[in-house]
Amino acid sequence: MKEKLEALKVEAVAKLQEVNDPQALNDLRVKYLGKKGELTEVLRGMGGLSAEERPVIGQVANEVRGAIEAIITEKQELFQQQETQQRLQAEKVDVTLPGRSLPQGGIHPLSRVVQEIEDIFIGMGYQVAEGPEVETDYFNFEALNLPKNHPARDMQDSFYLTDDLLMRTQTSPVQVRTMQAKNGEAPVKIICPGKVFRRDDDDATHSFQFHQIEGLVIGDNIRMSDLKGTLQQFVKEMFGPATGIRLRPSFFPFTEPSVEVDVSCFKCGGEGCRLCKHTGWLEILGAGMVHPNVLRMGGYDPEKYTGFAFGMGVERIAMLKYGIDDIRYFYTNDMGFVKQFKGI
Ligand code: PHE
Repeated sequence: MKEKLEALKVEAVAKLQEVNDPQALNDLRVKYLGKKGELTEVLRGMGGLSAEERPVIGQVANEVRGAIEAIITEKQELFQQQETQQRLQAEKVDVTLPGRSLPQGGIHPLSRVVQEIEDIFIGMGYQVAEGPEVETDYFNFEALNLPKNHPARDMQDSFYLTDDLLMRTQTSPVQVRTMQAKNGEAPVKIICPGKVFRRDDDDATHSFQFHQIEGLVIGDNIRMSDLKGTLQQFVKEMFGPATGIRLRPSFFPFTEPSVEVDVSCFKCGGEGCRLCKHTGWLEILGAGMVHPNVLRMGGYDPEKYTGFAFGMGVERIAMLKYGIDDIRYFYTNDMGFVKQFKGI
């Protein structure tokens, strides 16, 4: 029996040593050590041994089992290591490869200019107010001191939807809406960005739809010098610290006195160039002291409060600032145009 066990050991060790895959290893484990395995088979015969022989053979059998188990464990560990190695190899990531870049959008130049202007005025304590694009005749004209048949209505050729409703021609109706909502409470300090609509034939400098930003301040003792100082500060932040302003008398029905405001040409510094048509100045906005009739219709006593207002075209400012020579670029979604403003 002892010889049988020794022979079994020699055979098993030889076979196990040659094994080189986990499946075959497992098959051999079953073949030798399984319930119906060869070692178990031999041990079953121990019942017929004498009491002296039994412990001797038992010891040999244990040795044989120990030897076979040891080599199986060794092989299992080896296979495990090999598998881990293969997985590491297969799943290797080259962290030095360039990444896949995601397409990145940019902010449209008009939105950018609106945000810039808003930031400047918010920094001066203004709040942003908005109003509807479809307006009543009352808010767009009448409450702004432009009664029906007033000749100044011709300055803003309008798209009427009904006798009483139109696409707003200016952001000034937001002034009236804000004043009425405030119930005569002062101070008022707002800017109102938004789309406006006029019956213009589209060309390089005109569009039937464009954007304005309106400003309105009402309070105790608000004077023309406050308007001037505010606009001076605004243009310095918007166009550079060397920029100056010039006020020219003008007319708007809702302001008295009214002015047209020019900035010194930020391209040539006022010397004269193509941008400023050799005048040294660029016209950028309309402004004035709020007309007493407008204050009254907005619910403010003109004897108690005064105010100033201004309005500017966003496209015009963007065109001047970025050297854009055709307003239609803003609306045609030409990627080549829009992309130039990425990351500015
Ligand atoms: N609403 C005027 C326009 O569209 C601009 C303006 C606003 C002028 C406020 C004076 C005061 O022409």
